[in-house]
This record gives sequence, C-alpha cells and structure tokens, in this order.
Amino acid sequence: MIPDPSRKYRAYPPIALPDRQWPGRTLTHAPIWCSVDLRDGNQALAVPMNVSQKLELFDALLKCGFKEIEVGFPAASNTEFAFMRRLIEDKRIPEDVTVQVLVQAREDLIQRTVESLVGVNKAIIHLYNSTSPAQRRVVFGLEKPQIVEMARRGTRWIRERLPLLAGSQIRMEYSPESFSATEVEFSLEVCEAVVAEWQPSAENPIILNLPDTVEVAMPNVYADQIEWFCKNLKSRETSIISLHTHNDRGTGTAATELALLAGADRVEGTLFGNGERTGNLDIVTVALNLYMHGINPGLDFSHINALREVYERCTGMTVPPRHPYAGELVFTAFSGSHQDAIRKGFAEREKNGGEAIWDVPYLTLDPSDLGREYREVIRVNSQSGKGGVAYLLESQFGIELPKDLQREFGPLANDLVDALGREVTAAELKTMFWREYVERHTPLALHHFHADGVEGVFRCRASLRLDGADLAVTGEGNGPIAAFVNALAGAGLPAFEVTDYRQAALGSGTEASAISYVQIRTGDGRLVWGAGVNTHIQLASIEGVVSALNRAGLAGGR
Ligand code: KIV
Ligand code: ZN
Repeated sequence: MIPDPSRKYRAYPPIALPDRQWPGRTLTHAPIWCSVDLRDGNQALAVPMNVSQKLELFDALLKCGFKEIEVGFPAASNTEFAFMRRLIEDKRIPEDVTVQVLVQAREDLIQRTVESLVGVNKAIIHLYNSTSPAQRRVVFGLEKPQIVEMARRGTRWIRERLPLLAGSQIRMEYSPESFSATEVEFSLEVCEAVVAEWQPSAENPIILNLPDTVEVAMPNVYADQIEWFCKNLKSRETSIISLHTHNDRGTGTAATELALLAGADRVEGTLFGNGERTGNLDIVTVALNLYMHGINPGLDFSHINALREVYERCTGMTVPPRHPYAGELVFTAFSGSHQDAIRKGFAEREKNGGEAIWDVPYLTLDPSDLGREYREVIRVNSQSGKGGVAYLLESQFGIELPKDLQREFGPLANDLVDALGREVTAAELKTMFWREYVERHTPLALHHFHADGVEGVFRCRASLRLDGADLAVTGEGNGPIAAFVNALAGAGLPAFEVTDYRQAALGSGTEASAISYVQIRTGDGRLVWGAGVNTHIQLASIEGVVSALNRAGLAGGR
C-alpha cells in the first residue's frame, strides 16, 4: 500500500440531490425478485454448472417462490441454449414463472437468443451494454452518442423479432451496465432512448435495471443515483426500476436496501451472494432482513439448510459459517453470557405460549422459522459457561441439573473442554458428567441396599466395599437416605449431612431409570454434589450419596 492513497484513488463524487427523500422512508413491502443464479452466478463459476445441475438449482429456485428467473445467456454457449430449450420443451416452467435471458446488443446474438425462446410462455429479454466513462473509453472506444445508438439498435433488433415469438408474452429489460459508475444524466439519456424505441405501456412496462456492476461508492450514493433517476425519468409509470448490486465494497445488501427506499421496484440477485468477484447481492439476506422486520418477503426459506446443500452441490461454492441467516454458526452461541441470555429468552417465550413478538437476545429471528434447530443454537467450547452445558444436557438428554449443581459442574466441564481445545458435543458433556458424578465407585462402592420402615422409622442394611474391603452396615432414620447416613456414621465414616436431594426420571419405556442429585455438607462445611443412576429410584438416591462421599474425599483412607 502507498502512504498517500489520494495519489492513486479518489472518492466517487456525490450526487446533487438536496431534497433526497429516501433517508426518511422505511420499507413496507417486498420488491419483485429476480434470481440471476443461473446466469450471473453461473458465469462466475470456475466450472460452470452442467444442465442437470442447472435443472436442480432451477427447481430449488421455484421452490423458494421466485417468479422471475434469469436462466442464462443462450447465445453464449451450446449448454446455455440447450438449457433454455430443455426448460421449454420439457414444460418445466410453471405458468406463473417468467424466464429471463441476457444478450448483448449484437444482431446475431439477439437472433439466436430469440430462437432459444420459441414456444416459451412468458419471457424477459434482457439487453445490456456498458455506459460508464471507463468502458466507453477502454472497451468500446466510442463516444456517448454511439453508445446511445448501440442501445437503441439492440432494442430495435429485439422488437423486430417479436413476430417469431408470437403467442409468448415478452417483456424487455435494459441495463446500462456499470450504471453506478456512469454519469446519471447519461444513464438516463440511454434508458430514455431504449424506452422510446420499445414503447412500453402500463400493461407491459419495460424493466430498467440499474446495476451497481462494480461498487464504486458508499451505498447512500447508489440510493441517491436511484432516487435521482426515478425522479427524472419521463416514463416512470411504464417502467419497473430494477436493482442489481454487486458486493465489491461489501455493501451490496445495504446498497439494495437503501435503493429500495429510493424508489426501486425490483431486485436482482443470487442465493447466498454467488456471482462475479465478491458476488452479486445475496437475495436470501435482503429477503430475511425484510422478514425480521415483520414484512412477508414473498420468498420461502423455511428449509434453509436443505437449500444451502442444493446450492453447494450445484455451484461447488460454499456458504461461509458466518454468512447471515444461512451460515452454520450464525445462530450459535459459544459464549457463556450469550448462552445464558438466549436460554432465558427462550424460557420467557415458552412461558408466554410462544405468541409474543420475537425478542430473544442475540437472535435476530427464530431459527426454527428457517428449519434450523434450537440445538444448533447453543454449542459448548472453552468460552462457554454453565448455562450452555446445562442447556445441552437438558435439551439433548432431559438431564435437568439443579442450579447449584450447574454451578459446580460448569467450571469442571469448562476445564475439561479447555484441555481438549475444541468444541464438544452434548454426548461428550454427558460422558464428562457421568465420569465426574455417576461413575464414582471408589473408594466406596455400593453392592446391596435394602430399607423398609413403619411409621416413619426406616431401617436399612447395606453391603459396600471400602478401599477393597467388604463393609456391612445397618442404620435407621426417618427415610432410606437418613437410615443410610446413620449406618455410615455407625461404621466410622466422617460426619456429613445431606443438604439437598432431587430425583428425576431418565428416559422412558423399558430403558427408564432414575437419576438422583444429592448434595452433602462435610464436617468442615464444604458443599459437594453427587449423582446416582439406577432403574430403582431408592437405589439411585443411595448411589447419589455414595458418589458425593467419594467426590468429597470422605470415604476411604481410614
Ligand atoms: O453486473 C451487471 O452489470 C450485470 C449486467 C449484465 C446487468 O450483470
Ligand atoms: Zn451482475
């Protein structure tokens, strides 16, 4: 990089628009969407999609609800031409869907494009040529009037061929390519020449697509360009203003949203932002941004993971894990404080019957609306706290740890995860819990326990092993646990008392068992938890006591 970038670069000049309206507006409805996955997206792939991949992606786009789909550039290659023919001849285009094809302003290309459309029900022919000063200078070597003439001639060549498509509903789209890098007055001049040539009507409006082919400015500048264009276009009532942003400065989404505020009607883009260089606008993001503001986007992303899979299989691209809405990690919290807030947010929703306006901390929308599961939300690594650990054990295995036990196990689990140096699964956490609490059979192990009682007085007999030696004890108390505590005291184990005891069912059916959580206070005042699992509830509780003793270091070494 150079120390003074102003020697090499300059900011794009602002648009003179003192009475701009867009900053004061809000979005209230969805635009017309047009997917360009099969054209702009496909053109940008190192290995373009073959016909069967294109068909699969086309069907996926239909399933999302796209009603306008740019399917290719039929004059560019045999595959593109064959794909268009296949869609028409196999009747794969639903009645309410319009296919779109792209073509440059060359007569032979227009002829071939029109031939590819014979028999189509509804189509948009999309003509484009570059208009920016750099393209006029270095690509065409032409002056402005010749560029205007190029666009007008291309439009005429299309119009002259309409009789070949009699019986089809054909609409015209024109793009002054590099619109955002073109003088707005000149873009308007070219578009008005095209409009004059095409003669659109309110019933058959023309689409004027104003591409941010390469992002050259901040998104507010694009919005100004769009507002300026809408204000100054003579044929606004017979024109659909369309946006087509790319993402070179990483602001494709912002540019589209602001330009919608500025008056545009239609948006072109791709799934997950595939496209040339940094990609096209990601339609999924803009649509779901509308959705999370309570606006029906008119596109259905209820199965976003499945859509992502189709997209990745067909294009060979991958959706990054942090990609808005669709990335693997975007609804995931590793941080303990985030996990805690999310868990509380879910709990509050549940308490309200799930009907209230969405307001769960850290989650822009309900992942289940996109077919994503709650269990994707909370994942545990060394950054996570007790909340995440507890959430996973509860949501995956129904193991609801008492709050105090969560406080004890959380840091222990955290240390184990830290030592592993990676994320852990719920099953791994369960194993950690079992090792730490349930499988604590040394130095004291329970072999047999029996208790019965009358009128609140229980007597128990237990056989145990302590430090490898058999130990038989008897005792009595006001319940089986109290009787066992009494029996151990009688056998000379250090004094302790049971300060908390909970039990819960674990699993169901023939596999059903019980889990007990037992907290003891040792003679020196420490509070220590134990847990026991058994098909007999009474045995689970006694094993819980044994586990707590072993963990507290009270048994053995006498
Ligand atoms: O980015 C662009 O300008 C294009 C045009 C062909 C519309 O893709
Ligand atoms: Zn493009």
